[in-house]
Amino acid sequence: MVSTLFDPVTIGGLQLPNRLVMAPMTRNRATPEGLVTELAGEYYAQRASAGLIISEGIQPSVIGQGYFLTPGLHNAEQTDAWRQVTDAVHRAGGRIFAQINHCGRIGHPALYPDNALPLAPSAVASGEQLFTPDGMLDHPTPREMTTEDIAATITDFTAAARNAIAAGFDGVELHGANGYLLHQFLADNTNLRTDSYGGSVANRIRFVTEVVAAVSEAIGADRTGIRLSPGNPFNHIEESDPAPLYVELLTKLAEQDIAYVHIVEGGDRELTTKLRAAWPGSLILNPHRTPDAFPATVEAAEEALESGVTDAVSLGALWLANPDLDARIKVGGPYNTADQATFYGGDSAGYTDYPTLDQVTSA
Ligand SMILES: Cc1cc2nc3c(=O)[nH]c(=O)nc-3n(C[C@H](O)[C@H](O)[C@H](O)COP(=O)(O)O)c2cc1C
Repeated sequence: MVSTLFDPVTIGGLQLPNRLVMAPMTRNRATPEGLVTELAGEYYAQRASAGLIISEGIQPSVIGQGYFLTPGLHNAEQTDAWRQVTDAVHRAGGRIFAQINHCGRIGHPALYPDNALPLAPSAVASGEQLFTPDGMLDHPTPREMTTEDIAATITDFTAAARNAIAAGFDGVELHGANGYLLHQFLADNTNLRTDSYGGSVANRIRFVTEVVAAVSEAIGADRTGIRLSPGNPFNHIEESDPAPLYVELLTKLAEQDIAYVHIVEGGDRELTTKLRAAWPGSLILNPHRTPDAFPATVEAAEEALESGVTDAVSLGALWLANPDLDARIKVGGPYNTADQATFYGGDSAGYTDYPTLDQVTSA
């Protein structure tokens, strides 16, 4: 049966009224202590008509932070601060998962009180830079994680996941996409390890499957999702073998029966179709027809659903700029355009002041 955006669907035990997911988006408006503010509650609540909201990336530890003014879930104050967001979303009738993101080598000593080096599977620098209020800084060569670091990091992920549930989130999405720590273990240009976490496909997927298993045990598999971006070069990732790697990973994840897999598609529908065949559970697709098609369009989302390749679709920039995206789609638009200058950091401008269609019409 062909599904449309407005057919309800059950994902991880949650009843979603539509298949239109809000993709995770970092907005850099937390306090220096990693606390989200009331404004974040307003922003997410404005978008509560999404079938499911995935939050911005949230660091599970001090060393997991990769950018200025991103929120955390690694202490009691941060957990309490999220409560105002989850309450606001639930009051508005929505559902929200927390995206837990350890940035790995996409970190910088300037972000950590003890000036530590960021951690990564191997000592391979990203070649990227950190944006700071004082200008751009080169990412340093990260410190290769020891076996003890790996165990401690898994514990950080599970603690953050427990905090997410304590804060009222409906579940967590582990960020395995876009070149951050989990992806750094998967990719063969960032993982040069010679122990049981590196080398073969079976070894490179080990850390990810261990994190998923630990988080599932802590909060329930039905509240655990993961985001993946097979073949995506973002943050200087080069994967020589995406198809076999992700097929193997999804086959292993299928044994754990988690809530969903969320794929950032890089224009390769053939690859998505192969991965779909290896993953019998719920799939959310961030649909891109070509590698550089940004933002994804409503048409691409509709086409992906109608093709049957996915159960739900996620959109980023369109939700950012259109708090009432679902209502706008129902009437065929028009859509506000996302202002890139206010994506990262700032105040309510470009955050909570995008108008709904009703506001535009009545103005
Ligand atoms: C401002 C902004 C911040 C983003 N932050 C995140 C993030 O924290 N985690 C993540 O997985 N993806 C992040 N993304 C990627 C989006 O989730 C999405 O995959 C991307 O925007 C492509 O989808 P779209 O074309 O519908 O916008 C971000 C994108 C934007 C525009």
